[in-house]
Amino acid sequence: MLFQLSEEQLMIQQAARDFAQNELKPGVIERDEHQKFPAEQVKKLGELGFLGMMVSEKYNGSGLDALSYVLVMEELSKVDASASVVVSVNNSLVCYGLESYGSEFQKEKYLKPLASGQQIGAFCLSEPEAGSDATSQQTTAEDKGDYYLLNGTKNWITNGSTASTYLVIAQTHKELKHKGINAFIVEKGMEGFTVGPKENKLGIRGSDTHSLMFNDVKVPKENRIGEDGFGFKFAMKTLEGGRIGIAAQALGIATGAYELALEYSKQRKAFGKPISDHQAIAFKLADMATQIEAARLLVYKAAWLKDQGQSYTLAGSMAKLYASKVAMDVTVEAVQIHGGYGFVKEYHVERLMRDAKITQIYEGTSEIQKLVISRDILK
Ligand code: CAA
Ligand code: FAD
Repeated sequence: MLFQLSEEQLMIQQAARDFAQNELKPGVIERDEHQKFPAEQVKKLGELGFLGMMVSEKYNGSGLDALSYVLVMEELSKVDASASVVVSVNNSLVCYGLESYGSEFQKEKYLKPLASGQQIGAFCLSEPEAGSDATSQQTTAEDKGDYYLLNGTKNWITNGSTASTYLVIAQTHKELKHKGINAFIVEKGMEGFTVGPKENKLGIRGSDTHSLMFNDVKVPKENRIGEDGFGFKFAMKTLEGGRIGIAAQALGIATGAYELALEYSKQRKAFGKPISDHQAIAFKLADMATQIEAARLLVYKAAWLKDQGQSYTLAGSMAKLYASKVAMDVTVEAVQIHGGYGFVKEYHVERLMRDAKITQIYEGTSEIQKLVISRDILK
């Protein structure tokens, strides 16, 4: 077992760390406060090749491995999870889905601008009545010969108003249940496609979350991904990798909060000595560091399995389940270590605590990860 990053991985990690400090940190508090999408920063992330990291160079990607992607997610998330979720959705849901299952036409037309960061994508599975229970899709895609007629509503869509390309899951053959579901590429501006108002959220407030409405949208047949009825498998296979990205996001949020708490504890004095000299605080730090290290091992292992071409369903779900719990626990303790200062915005930890919560909800709640894990270990 080699617990060592390559020269290239270390360079990518450093580039992401520098970007987070120099480009994301300034303004992160204001963007959170005003729910401002980090548009300029996302453009620069595209220029750095961070929006199509694992896509082959043939389709304008960076041709890197999943571990490099995880390192970037971790570094960006230490500072700004609203920016890192754009990286996660674009890379591991949209680009991965298109490169793995799209036709040559779809890769040329849609994947190339997404992988180069010229455009942003969105992944649209959740609905008002179908979140965890994703097979209960109510959005319909009626087969009309050379096109599909799309009708329905998607909820909570990340990059909802900033995306140009949307991967939309919909039911075509209701009687076949999940085997009748399809996945489609929908373009912004298609007639009948409207974007609802931005959600006002607890965390990742800079992220652009919207509902989407489809009213008789004509989607050309060549925009269906894979064979008729492949849509649910498409969503599940794509989410397997997405969950590694969100696990890395959770790891980054936890690490960011821990590093701030560690530093603060050495500077803040109480009862004549740094608070880190009080064992109650030192032990909190010890627990936080240990939890983070365990989460990191799970996350890196899941990415490593993906890079080895081995199954990573179980590892990805375990990584997401555990890292998101660690993100919650560690950020709460980071606020505690900061005392009253932790409760105000300038010290960053309250935002990290609010941002941590979403990692237990999206891309499959913690309960759904337990369902996936328990089904796997019991089969
Ligand atoms: N790979 C391939 N196929 C899979 C699969 C996988 N990982 N998981 C399930 N399937 C297949 C099953 O084999 C089955 O097909 P067959 O009948 O042909 O064998 C079919 O899918 C249905 O599976 P189940 O019978 O297990 O269905 P279920 O309803 O009991 O459970 C579920 C399915 C795992 C709960 C699923 O609905 C799920 O993952 N829900 C969570 C949804 C989710 O993660 N949403 C995230 C939205 S995206 C997002 O959130 C992005 C963001 O925030 C940034
Ligand atoms: P529900 O499914 O209604 O769950 C409610 C509660 O019941 C949860 O605690 C859940 O774990 C529990 N529960 C449900 N079923 C079971 C069960 N069988 N066993 C045990 N417990 C269960 N979706 C997209 O498709 N694309 C996106 O880009 C996207 N971005 C998002 C961004 C944000 C900020 C948010 C908040 C959500 C986003 N989502 C997105 C949706 C997200 O994936 C769903 O919210 C999530 O899957 C849960 O679905 P739900 O909200 O309908 O909750």
